[in-house]
Amino acid sequence: MQELKQFEIPGRLSFIEGEGGLLKIVIDTASSDAEIYLHGAHITHFQKKGEEPILFMSAASDFALEKPIRGGIPIIFPWFGPRDGLPAHGFARLLVWTLRETTQMPDGSVCLCFCMPTTELYDAEYRVTIGDCLSMELSVRSSHPKEVELETCLHTYFKVSSIDEISIHGLRNVSYMDKINTKVSVETAPAIEISSEVDRVYFDTPTTVEIEDRGFGRKICIEKSMSNSTVVWNPWIEKSMRMPDFCDDEYQQMVCVESGNVAKNQIVLKPRETAVMKVVVKSEKLPI
Ligand code: BG6
Repeated sequence: MQELKQFEIPGRLSFIEGEGGLLKIVIDTASSDAEIYLHGAHITHFQKKGEEPILFMSAASDFALEKPIRGGIPIIFPWFGPRDGLPAHGFARLLVWTLRETTQMPDGSVCLCFCMPTTELYDAEYRVTIGDCLSMELSVRSSHPKEVELETCLHTYFKVSSIDEISIHGLRNVSYMDKINTKVSVETAPAIEISSEVDRVYFDTPTTVEIEDRGFGRKICIEKSMSNSTVVWNPWIEKSMRMPDFCDDEYQQMVCVESGNVAKNQIVLKPRETAVMKVVVKSEKLPI
């Protein structure tokens, strides 16, 4: 903890021992609060003052070095989904990232920069800005002499008032792969409503996706750049019961709307090339 002292910002950013003895960064700005674990550079909390939290965290989450955290924003990299003999959704969420820099910006927001331990193939950097909105920038640079393929995804768990009270906008007429039956279809619904298990990868979706939450009276806007896929996931009843680190009824209070570049939108990097994906999460009150 001593070596992190240099990164403290009095009254704004401090370090504490979090769940499971893992190190946690606590950020308090004039407009919002946030918490980030060095384990996975995992944002577990973001809340605008006077509003409901934006991120969902499972009460049953593990907090251990060899396990991912359930909720918040896991960084999925360098692959999305299962891979034979290797950790599901890549290893980035299982590594302890290094904090490189913390800065208080003139507008009162706080910016943090993390680096993933270097691998043979890539260097990854993650910039997070906590302010009136939550902004994340994931940069991956290839350090390999040949072309490399990779997938990235900010697997964001949003807290919702009730799964029956939300609609997801911005994906109409988009082609998607349904991971439940591996069929490819086109979204025909003007807005997505969830009333059963949903696990879909929407392709070629570079524009903003919104979650309208009538129960909380708010709209969450997910603005992105260089993110061509959007994954929508809710485990519903049976899958929730099968997940040991997720409570049986928590599917009612969350939805994952994940921004990334996965499957046919995967990234191919030439030697020393860098791919940067940026995601900004904002919330607005719904008109009454
Ligand atoms: C989603 C996948 O992104 O993540 C789902 O599309 C998966 O298939 C979910 O179940 C959770 O994955 P994990 O590895 O965190 O349990």
